[in-house]
Amino acid sequence: MSLLSVTDNDSVSLIYLLYLALTMRIDILSVVPELLRSPFSHSILKRAINNGIAEIHIHNPRDFSADKHKKVDDYMYGGGAGLVMTCQPIADCIEFLKSQREYDEIIYMTPDGEQLNQGIVNGYSIKKNILILCGHYKGIDQRIRDIYITHEISIGDYVLSGGELGAAVLTDAILRVIPGAINNEESALTDSFQDDLLAPPVYTRPSNFRGHEVPKVLISGDFPKIEKWREEQSIKRTKERRPDLLKKTGD
Ligand code: ADE
Repeated sequence: MSLLSVTDNDSVSLIYLLYLALTMRIDILSVVPELLRSPFSHSILKRAINNGIAEIHIHNPRDFSADKHKKVDDYMYGGGAGLVMTCQPIADCIEFLKSQREYDEIIYMTPDGEQLNQGIVNGYSIKKNILILCGHYKGIDQRIRDIYITHEISIGDYVLSGGELGAAVLTDAILRVIPGAINNEESALTDSFQDDLLAPPVYTRPSNFRGHEVPKVLISGDFPKIEKWREEQSIKRTKERRPDLLKKTGD
């Protein structure tokens, strides 16, 4: 196919190839898929998906269960309260997806994983295919972790009822840093943490709200001065609230 003289069919294929090359695909495995639908149906994430920046596919391991009652959990070996997600439905679901494409990462959401941060998110944002597995009940059989999982992620030192909210947090954070997912006014590059600094305070109209004035510099029209003020405020806020971030960069 020549790039110089494309027929209608050629250009359609070219656009499709470009779409395939540029679109990130995230597959999420969950036994409670309803928990995941709403976060991707609104606002920035919905637009990113509609614009072809990313595809999100949700799968229920229960659909792969060989059990006649579609069971996905069982009692813990050795005794103990709570059920554990069994190997077979998850393994068959992952194997099925792996037979369709290669995954750059197979992530398990778990409170004992590596704590999520902007650096990890940025790394994921340049991958092509990511699979995220959400745990439930007391978690998943360790053998699934040993066989398939390439990275385990926690969204904080607290225990959620399942990995779904964590998977939604992770997916949101990834999508917003993919170029084109959000427009200039919402630029992800000025987000807190992108340069290990917290974002400066922001203001909008009116300039005087019940006697509380917007800092004068922001309405001065002097953009270099505004830039300098924002940088100073970022550093001040980071020193006050997250001095550990400054130590990381050696400031
Ligand atoms: N599943 C349960 N708690 C979690 C957490 N803190 N982070 C990620 N996944 C989880």
